[in-house]
Amino acid sequence: MDKQDIIKKLNKSINSKFLEDINKRGLFDAVSHWDKKASHFDKKKFDTKDEQTYVKSIFDYIDSRISIKSDYSFLDVGAGTGILSIPLGNLSHKVTALDPSKNMLDILKTKSEETNACKYITLINKRWREAELEKDYQIHDIAIAHRSLGMISLDSKMNSDFNDAIMKLHNSAKKAVFIFFPGISDINTIISENLDYSKGKREAFSDFEVSGDGIYNFVYTLGFYPRVDYIEIENIEHFNNVDEAVQKYMKYWKLDAKDDYSLVLDVLKQQRILDDDGYVFDNKKRIKILWWKK
Ligand SMILES: C[S@@+](CC[C@H](N)C(=O)[O-])C[C@H]1O[C@@H](n2cnc3c(N)ncnc32)[C@H](O)[C@@H]1O
Repeated sequence: MDKQDIIKKLNKSINSKFLEDINKRGLFDAVSHWDKKASHFDKKKFDTKDEQTYVKSIFDYIDSRISIKSDYSFLDVGAGTGILSIPLGNLSHKVTALDPSKNMLDILKTKSEETNACKYITLINKRWREAELEKDYQIHDIAIAHRSLGMISLDSKMNSDFNDAIMKLHNSAKKAVFIFFPGISDINTIISENLDYSKGKREAFSDFEVSGDGIYNFVYTLGFYPRVDYIEIENIEHFNNVDEAVQKYMKYWKLDAKDDYSLVLDVLKQQRILDDDGYVFDNKKRIKILWWKK
């Protein structure tokens, strides 16, 4: 089998795993899904302090690998509401944020206008695989897909093509490509492994998107010699009593059944750090990273 055949075979397998995963989540039209989710997505994830800590960890990581210079340009693919594009706009004078969801980009734009960053951010409201290098955007120093690799592989018919999406990231960067997978906390990992998704009302974490299963081999086969790493973010949570903690996770996962209460309670018991002052949990977050230099 020659290299092109191996690439085709691996691509087919990753695409089918991913599509199976998003079908399980009931995601049949990515753009309208994110349009509907936009304002909730922007509020849900973090409080401001957590978001700053998170973004700082991501930037410190990039800087530790490629020493960011102030004249570097950044391409943020599947930029969403701008968790990275906006702080990047405060760091660099050339940031391009691409996203096919107009509602996500509208939030990004409004938020960037509260800072100086808006002057340096160019928006592209397109799917990644539809954007054309040289016509829609120029080559950037760094290309980033942050929690968006699966999504950016999709076309308008919801067919995925990781080969096309990853080659394009590679060809759009002069210095390096960074792919960040969604971080998941220890408590949510265990809860998600134990939930009964057949009840249909919960959105499972996408196994594929979190683990990036198979992507390393694929990128290696493409000849890009990726490195894999993890950022760990400390996340100690304090509650006055265990019920308060259980309620938080029940709400997050939209749980109500009695069985679910004991499931969450059991998980929390495992994660509890003994502390006389109340209920303290070690809920570390781990973010997987794949990146390569050009
Ligand atoms: C999980 S969100 C991540 C947003 C942002 N990078 C972050 O980490 O907060 C995934 C994003 O991918 C975008 N997306 C969906 N389909 C896409 C496509 N075909 N090309 C590029 N982005 C896409 C969605 O609109 C959404 O904003």
